Amino acid sequence: MKPYALTPAQAAVAILPPHTPGRHEQPAVLPIRTAGEFMAGETLADEPLLELHTQTCKSCSRKFVARFPGFCDDCFEKEVERVQVRNTTAVALKTFPERARQVTQKMRGPSLEKAKAIMPLLRSNQGAQLIVIGDRWTGKTVMATWWAQMLGFGLYTKAYDLFASVRHTYHEDSKLREHEVLDRFRKADFLVIDEAQERKESDWENTLLTNLIDKRYDALKPTVIIANLKQDALDAALGPSIVRRVAETGGIIECTWPPYGQ
Ligand SMILES: Nc1ncnc2c1ncn2[C@@H]1O[C@H](COP(=O)(O)OP(=O)(O)O)[C@@H](O)[C@H]1O
Ligand SMILES: [Mg+2]
Ligand SMILES: [Zn+2]
Repeated sequence: MKPYALTPAQAAVAILPPHTPGRHEQPAVLPIRTAGEFMAGETLADEPLLELHTQTCKSCSRKFVARFPGFCDDCFEKEVERVQVRNTTAVALKTFPERARQVTQKMRGPSLEKAKAIMPLLRSNQGAQLIVIGDRWTGKTVMATWWAQMLGFGLYTKAYDLFASVRHTYHEDSKLREHEVLDRFRKADFLVIDEAQERKESDWENTLLTNLIDKRYDALKPTVIIANLKQDALDAALGPSIVRRVAETGGIIECTWPPYGQ
């Protein structure tokens, strides 16, 4: 019945016990900021963050418990097929690159098929941690932007900027503490870390990234790490514990198709 076939790794995730919703049953507000904006120095502590809510389906009005508002699972599947319609009404995901946001409306080919196949996993409230790898121009950033548009929420950062914004808090003139910046990345309901190959592979960075992925895994929040790397280079680039965690919950998505464009 369902148009999506889950891989064994995805199926394994699907049998985890469901998360019990907490008492944060408040209407969802979409906090959208860039990494640059929250280095600017105001406090973020009182900003609401999306948690699991009882939602009302926009299409059939059924109640469902999910992190992302909008459509119940059945209606969402239909909605995924009507990509164009939804993208024109999608919230502006300001942290995502404008270039990629423009392409999502005319996506075609293998990356669109792959993006659709992975969508249920990201929406499942099971905290999928994914790595997307492949050559330049295979549409990795566009796929991640499309996922955020379909979810209606997402925080985008390049790995370099993530570490830079944390490091910035160590300066004495910083108005933000380290944990305030980190909380932002920990609590975002959908986080995309792009260009993960473009950073120093220091112990400090690896520990920070491992801890971030661990916290998000514990909180059942989906994350996508994008890297222009081959699979055998991942352990060295991201550290073995992240790769293990990813293998457990979501998996590594390889973009093996020819690059778009030329
Ligand atoms: N699904 C798609 N359909 C059509 N063109 C695409 C698609 N995905 C990507 N492109 C084209 O390829 C370019 C690069 O995509 P991008 O996601 O930035 O690649 P990557 O992040 O893998 O380097 C886009 O600017 C767009 O022109
Ligand atoms: Mg990219
Ligand atoms: Zn519905």
